[in-house]
Amino acid sequence: MIRPSFSFLKLRSKSQLVEWLAGTQVVLLAIALVCFSGWIKIKLGALIREQIIAENQLIAEQMGRVLASVQSAPVEFGDENWGRLQTIVEDAKLPNDGYLCIASSETGKLLCHPKMRTSPGLRNSSVGQIQLEMQDSCKSTLLAAIRDFDKTKIEVVTGLVGAGTRTEIVSAAVLPQINGVLLVHQAEASTQQAVSRILTPLGYVGLVIGLAMIIITTKVGVAIIKRYENELAIINEGLEQTVRDRTRALTKTRDAVIFGLAKLAESRDSDTGEHLERISLFSTELAATVERRAGNSHSPLVDSIGLASSLHDIGKVGVPDRVLLKPGRLEAEERKIIEIHPKVGEDCLNAIEERLGNDGFLSLAKEICAYHHEKWDGSGYPYQLAGSQIPISARIVAVADVYDALRSRRPYKDPMTHEAARQIILQGSGKHFDPDIVDSFLECESAFERISSNYLAANLVSPSVITTPLLVSMASATPSVIQTSVCNVCHATP
Ligand SMILES: [Fe+2]
Ligand SMILES: [Fe+2]
Repeated sequence: MIRPSFSFLKLRSKSQLVEWLAGTQVVLLAIALVCFSGWIKIKLGALIREQIIAENQLIAEQMGRVLASVQSAPVEFGDENWGRLQTIVEDAKLPNDGYLCIASSETGKLLCHPKMRTSPGLRNSSVGQIQLEMQDSCKSTLLAAIRDFDKTKIEVVTGLVGAGTRTEIVSAAVLPQINGVLLVHQAEASTQQAVSRILTPLGYVGLVIGLAMIIITTKVGVAIIKRYENELAIINEGLEQTVRDRTRALTKTRDAVIFGLAKLAESRDSDTGEHLERISLFSTELAATVERRAGNSHSPLVDSIGLASSLHDIGKVGVPDRVLLKPGRLEAEERKIIEIHPKVGEDCLNAIEERLGNDGFLSLAKEICAYHHEKWDGSGYPYQLAGSQIPISARIVAVADVYDALRSRRPYKDPMTHEAARQIILQGSGKHFDPDIVDSFLECESAFERISSNYLAANLVSPSVITTPLLVSMASATPSVIQTSVCNVCHATP
């Protein structure tokens, strides 16, 4: 089913929705007013017209009786009896600009008219020939209509008469005693005036009521929308909290699994279980200092490098035990075998990324894994990258990794002092290490010394990042006597 697209109705805010609602109501009100006022104008006009016609007929009947009582014989223009009739015609006050006339029923000529005294020429007006348009739309001259009186027994006949630019409602009553016809005129325009007199205030009242309704319904609409938004916000907050809780739980699980895997690889050759915990702390501290020096208040690198750095030597799993666990110095061939571990780790994380899809954390872990043995001067391995070709994350972890190896106790050496390790790091600036990273190290070296000293002094086995029984058990299961390690071989031999 094809649904119509009302793209112009895109609502971008609550105020737009309210504007649309109010605007729609205003348009509907305007349409209703136009249609209703037109309809009521027609109906009301017809009603008022009927009333005026009935009123005109009544006036004709009543005035006919009055004139009959005043004069019972034909009159001549200018005589005394004519004068009495003329005075009645002049003094008559009719509604709607109405007036009276008397015409001869024999000749149709005007006998009396309100202006007859000042305009005697009106006597020649042959009103008997005026066309009356009856209510049934028939047309007839006044005299013809009068002559039908006897046949139809109708005492008063009413019709419309065109009088110049205006139309008049004319009711004619026969005055047989004086051989005359009484004509009662009222302007038809009065019908429209009467309609306007009624409709105008009615329109204002309707407009006020309509606007009041729009204001009320808009306010009610706003209140309903607000209530709906509040309830929606509560539901959304609940959903977001659920998502946050689940994401946090998933993240904790993911972090624990990742750290467990790193620990598993590390456990093959490390003589303590704390190298990964320390390198996480060192890398985070150093990354925060690097970012601060670069003017970045907050960086995803600082959030992720701690956990990602724990995977730096996961490729050790690809190094045979005879090489990895060999006591004493390694032969050149054996060193080559060991130097494959960054690629093994990179391939492993690549395989995971292929299954999971693009992931920021995996990318970070992969670059640390692949490049943490590269050196600033290009003499590292496995890719011999130099300078800024080496990702900054790997440059940071390289410093952290070497510092920890130097400061760690090994079966074949005592831990170096912070000052001695610091000196070796400084000597490696611009050769092994990025000079900027070394400068950052110097800014935060007190934190490095504190972290390292705490581990050495207390021989802690339960750092804060070990949170699950699985990891705790893996930490305690680390081989206690292993004579050499990848990191020792690669970095720490002074
Ligand atoms: Fe390594
Ligand atoms: Fe290491």
